[in-house]
Amino acid sequence: MGDRLKTIFIETYGCQMNFSDSEIVGSILSKNEYALTTDITDADCILINTCAIRDNAEQRIRKRLKELKAMRRNKPWLKVGVLGCMAERLKEQLMNEEDIVDLVVGPDAYRALPELLSQVEAGSKAANVLLSEEETYAEIDPVRLGSNGISAFISIMRGCENFCSYCVVPYTRGRERSRDPETIVNEAKRLFERGYKEITLLGQNVNSYRWDCDGGKVDFPELVKRVAEINPKLRVRYSTSHPKDLSDKLLEVMATYPNVCKSIHLPVQSGSNRMLKLMNRKYTVEWYKDRIEAIRRYMPDCAITTDVIAGFCGEEVEDHLQTLELFSWVGYDYAFMFKYSMRPNTYAHKYLKDDVSEEEKTRRLEEIIALQGKLSLESYRKDVGKTFEVLIEGTSKRNKEQLFGRNSQNKVLVFNGNGYKPGDYVMVKVLDCTSATLIGEIVEN
Ligand code: SAH
Ligand code: SF4
Ligand code: F3S
Repeated sequence: MGDRLKTIFIETYGCQMNFSDSEIVGSILSKNEYALTTDITDADCILINTCAIRDNAEQRIRKRLKELKAMRRNKPWLKVGVLGCMAERLKEQLMNEEDIVDLVVGPDAYRALPELLSQVEAGSKAANVLLSEEETYAEIDPVRLGSNGISAFISIMRGCENFCSYCVVPYTRGRERSRDPETIVNEAKRLFERGYKEITLLGQNVNSYRWDCDGGKVDFPELVKRVAEINPKLRVRYSTSHPKDLSDKLLEVMATYPNVCKSIHLPVQSGSNRMLKLMNRKYTVEWYKDRIEAIRRYMPDCAITTDVIAGFCGEEVEDHLQTLELFSWVGYDYAFMFKYSMRPNTYAHKYLKDDVSEEEKTRRLEEIIALQGKLSLESYRKDVGKTFEVLIEGTSKRNKEQLFGRNSQNKVLVFNGNGYKPGDYVMVKVLDCTSATLIGEIVEN
């Protein structure tokens, strides 16, 4: 019989959903008399919540596991668990490949953690990677890990059934399911009462949020409305929208409520119809442009950001040029840009050929990055002279006299504090910028 593991450290990689999941894990553990620590050297168990989206995300975790192995040399009782998408993708295989791993738990099995940890305490290895069609952790009040006390994530749904041909998420997170809207609104209310000023509603494709009950159905625009109505001083953001079903109804709700932030993340992936078809994205460039025009019609001041993949299977230079063209046409405020990384067992892995060379992928990616650098700078320059309402998030790392915060468009502003503090709303006039920050001063009115 081993010792009870008392102190647990959680380390998180990947997307916002994963960070949100770690907070659910934290809550489940705290309720079961485990203490969470923010100091890894204190821990007798380290849980790493992993990402499998690209090969380099997994390589990073493998490297981290090697480091933990070195740590265990000075602390033989240390236990290591792998949670999240890589756990789900590799399952028990992970324990065989990495002897440091004692515990493997998939994203839908976190309620089993206390039970699994007691098996580990008793000296055996443990795993649960069952995916669920119902689990939404709806009534679990997440502990807020590493939070600034001002902004928080709320998961509103889990899983994904879009099966974009390159993507591992439908396999690691299972069927799509929505969470009871009442529990979402209550969680947002509790956060606001505790002083939080901004919440981000999370899902892989929030547009397909749907809850049917006796009182009728709640779709995503209706959910946003209910959350926005909690208080005008509570900012509402969301991520991510799939372009195929970004509705006018949602844009209308966004335009109606000033506290629903004017910023839309609309991953395009490619500017070529041929690629979009191979990617199984279910929209065309023309459809995407129509959605951008609709956003601009409802909210001329709305920021638009995107994700893009360079060098997907069969991509020709012509397709790549079309991506650059679309980027210029939209004029994104910001973009997350990736090289295609083949993921085992996806449609693309089984039926398409990863035939763009590594050098060519890099070259195309660098071209997109260079173009986006210019577009971001243009977008930030346009803000010079404008005045924005800013929610203050903290003190600038470089200069203690300065504060930083975000405007509704999600751009970061830095300015002199004038006695204000994190959590306050202030009006800031932009005087200057870089391609990632607006520099301004508070205007009192
Ligand atoms: N659900 C979100 C995105 C989740 S993954 C959506 O559909 O918009 C975040 C981004 O990672 C994707 O938008 C895509 O650009 C990128 N991505 C996903 N799989 C990838 C792969 N195999 N190789 C490279 N990038 C990938
Ligand atoms: Fe992956 Fe597509 Fe689902 Fe996004 S919508 S998580 S890219 S399958
Ligand atoms: Fe997120 Fe990575 Fe999983 S992006 S859903 S943690 S594969």
